[in-house]
Amino acid sequence: MSVLTGKVGIVTAAGSGMGRAGAIRFARAGATVAVVSLEEEETRETLALVEAAGGQGLALAGDLGDESFAREIVDVTVEEFGKLDFLWNHVGYPGPAAVEDIDIGAFDRTVDLNLRTVMVTTSRAIPHLRKSTDGNVLFTSSSSGLTGSPWSPVYSMAKFGVVGLMRALAKKYGPEGLRFNAVCPGVMDTPMLRVFVARPDDERARGADAEELSRKAAEAIPLRRLGQPEEVANAALFLLSEDASFITGVALPVDGGTVA
Ligand SMILES: NC(=O)c1ccc[n+]([C@@H]2O[C@H](COP(=O)([O-])OP(=O)(O)OC[C@H]3O[C@@H](n4cnc5c(N)ncnc54)[C@H](O)[C@@H]3O)[C@@H](O)[C@H]2O)c1
Repeated sequence: MSVLTGKVGIVTAAGSGMGRAGAIRFARAGATVAVVSLEEEETRETLALVEAAGGQGLALAGDLGDESFAREIVDVTVEEFGKLDFLWNHVGYPGPAAVEDIDIGAFDRTVDLNLRTVMVTTSRAIPHLRKSTDGNVLFTSSSSGLTGSPWSPVYSMAKFGVVGLMRALAKKYGPEGLRFNAVCPGVMDTPMLRVFVARPDDERARGADAEELSRKAAEAIPLRRLGQPEEVANAALFLLSEDASFITGVALPVDGGTVA
């Protein structure tokens, strides 16, 4: 028996990067996984990989910025599989780099995709998680949710918020046996990193190539390399499984030593 045998979970932002790596890892550990992302094609591709890993699941494509979709993913999963044991709120958005010339629409989108949608999905999931023997929620914050990032003040604000929400929920629902934790990835080798480093309003990015900027970012990490999606997936698997049954309220850096 594997650590997630018989469990049913949801992974958001699972069409790529760490979310996809997590969905595959959880399937290999015995879970049934609803994979959620923006584009239908990438969502179906992840489901095919979940099935190839010996698991089963569901592919749900849509914009989590839309409140009704953020709720629907819980309803559809429970309808299909009869229960919910875990939720990984992995969706997020880099947001603007600028402060003085801030694009306030990008500010709102950062709050919507890092915080608002996560609150909506979590609140919908809690009544179902309560019925599980180890109901728990994992959030994705960031190393920028533990130390302020001068390059991404709005993102830092939102990811600190994710950690605050997670800790508060751990205390609020601990007496009912529910667990809430977060992973805090550092600089990870995924498509989102390329978006981050090459944002047009980031003064460091001007004219530079996203791959070159990513390599530079790796040089500042104590382990001197980018993190791989599977390395976050492994940490996520641990926190979501009963191996972590006495762990709640924790924000775990998976960052090669960045916040050390
Ligand atoms: N990549 C990094 O260096 C890094 C570091 C720290 C934290 N993070 C966090 O990790 C999470 C995702 O990062 P990743 O690197 O795995 O991403 P990625 O770029 O590999 O994948 C992003 C996924 O999110 C989905 N998505 C984007 N917008 C969506 C929306 N509105 N509704 C539904 N799905 C949507 C995409 O379809 C895609 O499947 C975010 O919360 C991000 O803030 C990333």
